[in-house]
Amino acid sequence: MIVAIDGPSGSGKSSTARAVAEELGGLFVDTGAMYRATSLYLSRLGLERADEVGPEHVRDLDVRLEVSGNDEGDRLRVLLGSEDVSQEIRKEYAGRLASEFAQSDCVRKAMVARQQMMAREVSSCGGTVVMEGRDIGTVVFPQADVKIFMTADDRVRASRRRAELLDQGQDVPLQSILDDMRARDARDRSRLQAPLVKAVDAIGLDTTGLDFEEQVGRIVKIVTERQSQMQRGTN
Ligand code: DC
Repeated sequence: MIVAIDGPSGSGKSSTARAVAEELGGLFVDTGAMYRATSLYLSRLGLERADEVGPEHVRDLDVRLEVSGNDEGDRLRVLLGSEDVSQEIRKEYAGRLASEFAQSDCVRKAMVARQQMMAREVSSCGGTVVMEGRDIGTVVFPQADVKIFMTADDRVRASRRRAELLDQGQDVPLQSILDDMRARDARDRSRLQAPLVKAVDAIGLDTTGLDFEEQVGRIVKIVTERQSQMQRGTN
């Protein structure tokens, strides 16, 4: 079963999708992390803009998501070759780079192919995949079994992001996060390739007034209802 969760940054997608996957015993795929790591790789090659990226730049790209479990739960590691870039890609500059390079057709094709392969490996043997991003329900898996589109008020999203950054030891002013988020949203929504848009058959979930457990609970309920429908053979 494939669960696609899309939405703008700060809508709570990542942490929610991870918790949903954990509750359902499924694989969590954070596609934003893949775009971030790829963009770090491209910037290290000396590239600055999406229109500079050609097939030769993504040919040797080796981005992997690795899940390692311990007593505190699953931990997602993002690898560029053998280098663990899990922390580096969470920095603000890496988010900006990702939003720039995500406009490249070459980058998107490389990411979509990897994401489809990862999910098919798991879902073809009966597993559940919870994949989150911007284009999962529209481009990567237009036939996903469940599609959720998460949104939240801008200021709420910026405050959540600020709290996350503080947790990681980065003290960034709220206004700067808000400005950056709006610029990134505008770029994600207006780009030609796979813009951020709600799939017509996605279920909208506005998380402005919801706490984390409520967000997770609502999605788990939607997924389990869909699972029972599928088992009964109804649509
Ligand atoms: O979700 P995030 O903030 O980690 O994503 C970083 C950037 O990557 C975001 O600005 C847009 C891009 N992205 C994308 O274009 N498509 C995806 N499926 C995931 C992320």
